[in-house]
Amino acid sequence: MSGRLDGDPIPRRDFLGLAGVWTTTIALLGSLLGMIRLPKPSVLPEASRRFRLGKPEDFPPGTSKVISGQNVLVISSGSGIAAMSLVCTHLGCIVAKTEGGFSCPCHGSFFDQDGQIKAGPAPRGLRWLEVTRAVDGRLVVNAGREVDPGTYYSA
Ligand code: FES
Repeated sequence: MSGRLDGDPIPRRDFLGLAGVWTTTIALLGSLLGMIRLPKPSVLPEASRRFRLGKPEDFPPGTSKVISGQNVLVISSGSGIAAMSLVCTHLGCIVAKTEGGFSCPCHGSFFDQDGQIKAGPAPRGLRWLEVTRAVDGRLVVNAGREVDPGTYYSA
């Protein structure tokens, strides 16, 4: 018994022909997508976040200096030289030095002299950054690598 929804069976030759057309179409579309994506690199190189500070003698112990354009505070003490980011850990505003620490002008977070969080909404203290020395003897800060707070570089 056949109903009105039962169509005529597809002949085997037509079925194989349609399957071939669909397979070829899908393969061509996949190749086309691959060719469109080819000029775009899937891994983007990141710019180096290292920058040179100067010679260690430029930072006498007991001083600190804001490196303009880098939003980094360089702290020099008897223990060595350290770098602390001045970028707020909440939403990235630049903190300002105040008496007793740093305050964020955007939402009012407050950090002590060592960058430890004292009042939110920032979730954590300011980042301390890796300081090393280049072959030419100058100090280098790697803003892409965080170190434990209180880590000083000493030659
Ligand atoms: S960005 Fe500093 S508290 Fe929000």
